[in-house]
Amino acid sequence: MPEVIPVGADHAGFELKQRLVAELERLGYRPLDLGTDSGASTDYPDYAHQVADRVEHGDAARGVLLCGSGLGMSYAANRHPGVRAAVAWTPEIARLAREHNDANILVLPARFVTEQQGLEILRTWLTTPFEGGRHERRVRKIDRE
Ligand code: RB5
Repeated sequence: MPEVIPVGADHAGFELKQRLVAELERLGYRPLDLGTDSGASTDYPDYAHQVADRVEHGDAARGVLLCGSGLGMSYAANRHPGVRAAVAWTPEIARLAREHNDANILVLPARFVTEQQGLEILRTWLTTPFEGGRHERRVRKIDRE
């Protein structure tokens, strides 16, 4: 069964989201596109909470969000217990977000990356495993466990 990956964006992330959804399909995933559906002005928390709810409750192991800077989406998503939403603007940051921080939501700053950069960041984040070890302890401490 293909992995379902919920994806959400506001108007600033809409165009890049369309490309990422197509890329997820091409790679054999099942993207769940939660909107927005156009470039008309919207409120980013509405999409952040939809994606983060699914990760928080285990309906999806991971998700993808996009807004202009990536910041608003990450603030809203990180309010959800168990969610680790990482803003990644280079593939290297995406790799570290997985290896060291076990990021389960990728947040793309759509106004600060090109389409090609966005696709590469997505592919890196999808395929990089969590390193565990000393990082396991640190990740647990985020939730004060
Ligand atoms: C929308 O103009 C912009 O504020 C939003 O996409 C995001 O960057 C917020 O953090």
